Formats: sequence, structure tokens, C-alpha cells
Amino acid sequence: MSVLTAKHKDLPLVMVVTINEVSGDLSAGAQSLLHSLDASFDAASFFKAVQFAGKAGQSVVAVLDGKPVVFVGVGALDKKSDENRETVRRALGTGYTKMQATGVEAFVVHVPDATVLGVERSTYLEQVATLLQIASYQFVSFKKEQKTWRPAVYVAGTTAADADSLEAGGIIGRAMNKARTLADTPPNHMYPALMAEQAAAIAKEYGLKYTVITQDEARDMGMGCFYSVAKGSENEGKIVILEYAPAHKDAPVVALVGKGVCFDTGGISLKPANYMTGMKYDMSGAAAVFAALEVCAQLKPAVRVIGITPLVENMPSGRASKQDDVVRALNGLYVEIENTDAEGRLILSDALTYVQQKYDPAVVLDIATLTGSCAATFGPLFAGLMTRDEGLEKELREIGNFVGDRVWPLPLVDDYKPAIESVVADITNCGSQTYKAGAITAGMFLECFIDKGRRWAHLDIAGTDSKIPGTTYLGRGATGTGVRIFVEYIRRFK
Ligand code: BES
Ligand code: MN
Ligand code: ZN
Repeated sequence: MSVLTAKHKDLPLVMVVTINEVSGDLSAGAQSLLHSLDASFDAASFFKAVQFAGKAGQSVVAVLDGKPVVFVGVGALDKKSDENRETVRRALGTGYTKMQATGVEAFVVHVPDATVLGVERSTYLEQVATLLQIASYQFVSFKKEQKTWRPAVYVAGTTAADADSLEAGGIIGRAMNKARTLADTPPNHMYPALMAEQAAAIAKEYGLKYTVITQDEARDMGMGCFYSVAKGSENEGKIVILEYAPAHKDAPVVALVGKGVCFDTGGISLKPANYMTGMKYDMSGAAAVFAALEVCAQLKPAVRVIGITPLVENMPSGRASKQDDVVRALNGLYVEIENTDAEGRLILSDALTYVQQKYDPAVVLDIATLTGSCAATFGPLFAGLMTRDEGLEKELREIGNFVGDRVWPLPLVDDYKPAIESVVADITNCGSQTYKAGAITAGMFLECFIDKGRRWAHLDIAGTDSKIPGTTYLGRGATGTGVRIFVEYIRRFK
């Protein structure tokens, strides 16, 4: 996404227009772009002729001087501004896809003014740049013919003064796309050792500290929960830590903890085949953490950020954990494994303990494709948010809306505690059927590994990790959910 200069004026266009612009007058900027293609083009009569009213989701293509012009409607933009920006995002997604069909090498994007949306110009342009970046995502690594389209895209009405905003947005979008590539990559090509290599490569390229704890080291350190899952696979588990340190030495620490199950068969509690397909996405939390760190390294917030990702495959084997096993977690709690398919909370528990012991973070945020229950509750549009910290809850909801990475709270209250009581051990990894509420009982389990008084929130992204219908800009596969909310939270952190 680059700024538009005079020499780019004569290019194909994606023009995002409101109802008011269509029924009244197009802005002077829009008019001038159209007229640089064809001085005699009369937008008003064109819209009338093709019955284009500028409603949200509506689009029409004109050809001016042999060049495609895609008009996409956004309606009146009279709703709350968060919704307005989502409408613009989807319109851009539509515009991008329509332009892709033409295969042009470069085009200009014209969006309604930031003032129409009631947001700061810099944030708005940043979000536009992120959107255009994620709309461009293609996963073709496993196609014999790798058809890709990489057009140059310019944002109309921008000048050199806007370059930083567009660049920041591009950084976020590219990192999201990297997270999506990791998640979309088939599990025979993305097991823990290869995930760790990807993290090491990110660390090297952007100047982050990279540490890895091997499976045996984890066992020797007392991470019985992590080890109980990791040991079932031929492919060794690993815990990867990425660290971003700002210039200021005493900066507060934010810890990001991401579930990295590179494939979840369920283990000995094997999933039925139709529930197992798609379980390559069970490392989406870890991928989001890598991407958030990659962004931090470039945007340099004044916060120290620790990303920790336990990486495993959950497999059935002669060495796999059994139902009824009891293991000892790093924090000393004994955990009964009632169901080996509740593996995410096991690997996260030791990572949570470790990151608090070692880094004493001001805030811990974890992200995990943790429960089918959460996916069934929210579907693909909201991630589940669990925390007892009302301030954090409010902030994360607000930030999620703001950046288009939405979350919605579920309760964590002591009344659910009996659901994870175990007869033989301290707690069980499988919430009791009497209580149902699988997403919440999983959150209650994780809470057993959070120090008293530690600020902590848990995001369950089981529904939002892939295949979001209706969001024109996300295509078919992984979504990069969590990256934008983490990055914005860290940038605003005080
Ligand atoms: N990775 C799954 C959760 C999941 C399900 C993510 C569907 C995305 C789509 C997780 O490890 C799991 O299997 N959870 C179990 C827990 C149960 C056995 C207590 C679940 O939700 O059924
Ligand atoms: Mn599972
Ligand atoms: Zn899982």
C-alpha cells in the first residue's frame, strides 16, 4: 500500500462510495480520479443506468479508457463507527476480489474520508492498509501451478505524510498473513520442529530473542502436563519463547501465551474422522503470538513483550497418555487426564506457570483454539473472552471492536469450580458433564495456573481461527485472529 502521487492517477480504480455520494455528488477527489481516466464520464447517469444505489455490499464495474473501475457501496455509514469501519473493510474486500478478476498490475483505492467515519486519519489509513494486505492473502504453496497476483496498490488522497500509517498497517497485515500461512500449511509440513524454525527465522529477521525448551528439558523442569501431551508423538514437542525488548529497561512486561497443537487427533480419546479434519488449525494461537511479536519488533511499543508457545502434536501411540493418567504440573498441582482430547489446557498450564515465574508479567493474555463449546456458542464471528478483571474485559472488547478482531465475554465464577474437581487428583482436565459450559470450564482450568492478583485474560479462538463466512476479505482458510487485538492492546498499554 503506497501513497498516491500524480503519476499514478491514470490507473484502474476501486472506489468505495456511500449512498449519499451516489445519490448526490461524488467527492472532488473521486471525480478527479474518474476524470483522469475519462473526462466525459458522468457518474450519476452511469449509476442510474446500472441501478447502483451504493448500498452496503453492492458493487458494479465500469470500464473507462479500457481500465476497470470497481464501485463498491457502503450504505449511509450512519451506524456506530466500529461498524462503519467493518462495512468499509468488507467493501474493500469485495473491491479487491473484483479487481483480482481483471488481473491488472496496479490500481488505486479510493475510500470515504476519515471524518465521515469519525476516526483519526492515521488509524483509519492504517486499518485500510492492513485490510488491503490481508485481502491479498493467497495460499498456493501446494498448487502445482502457483498462480499469484501481486498488484501495486495506491491509496488515493494520501501524501508522504501518510506513509508511516500505511506502512504500520501493512506490517500488521503481512504478519497476519504469515500467521495464516503457518496455520494453513498442512500438518505434515508444519510440526513442532518446523514451527520452531519459523519462529527462529522471525527472530533473526526482526531482531527478537529466541529461546527453545526441548521436550526432555520440559520434562526435567517438571512440566508434567506439557510432557504428557508431547510424548505421544514421533515428532518432538517444543516450547518456543520470543522476546521483544524496548529501549527502556524497566518497561512493563506483557506475556502472550499461544496454544500450538500442530495437529489434534484427540490422542487416545481419538476424535471421529469428521471432527479431526481441520485440526491443523489447532496451532493458530501460537501463530498469532509469533505474528504479534513480529509486529512489535517493527512498531517498537514501549512494552516488553514475551511470547511463549508450547508446540506439540496430540497423537495416539504406545507412548501416549491414557484416560485416567495423573500428571504433575509445573506449579505442583496434580491433574487427572480424563480425556486426552482436552490437551490444549494441559500444554498451556505449564507455559502459564513458567512465564509468570520467569518474567513476572504485568498482564498475561493467552490465546487458544481451546473448545468446540466456544465455537458452538459464538460461531466464527466472536472469540470467547474470559477474565475476572473487569477493566481488562472492557478494554479488550473495545479494542477488539476497534480493530475488527472481536471478542465477547463469558463468566469465570467460583460456582463453576466443582466442574473441574477430581476424585483422585487436585483437578481434572475435562469439565464435568453436569455443568456443561465447556468453554467456561476450560477457562476455569487455566485459572488454576494463574497467580493470585495477576492480571490475566483468556481468548478462546476455536470458532474464529478459520473459514469465516461473509467477511469478504478473509477468503477460505486461516484468519490470523488475535494478531490485531494483541498488537493494539500492547500499543495502548500504560
Ligand atoms: N482443539 C480442540 C477444540 C476445537 C474444536 C477447536 C473444534 C476448533 C474446532 C480441543 O483440543 C478439544 O478437543 N477440546 C475438547 C475438550 C473436551 C474433550 C473437554 C472439546 O471441545 O470437545
Ligand atoms: Mn483436543
Ligand atoms: Zn486441541
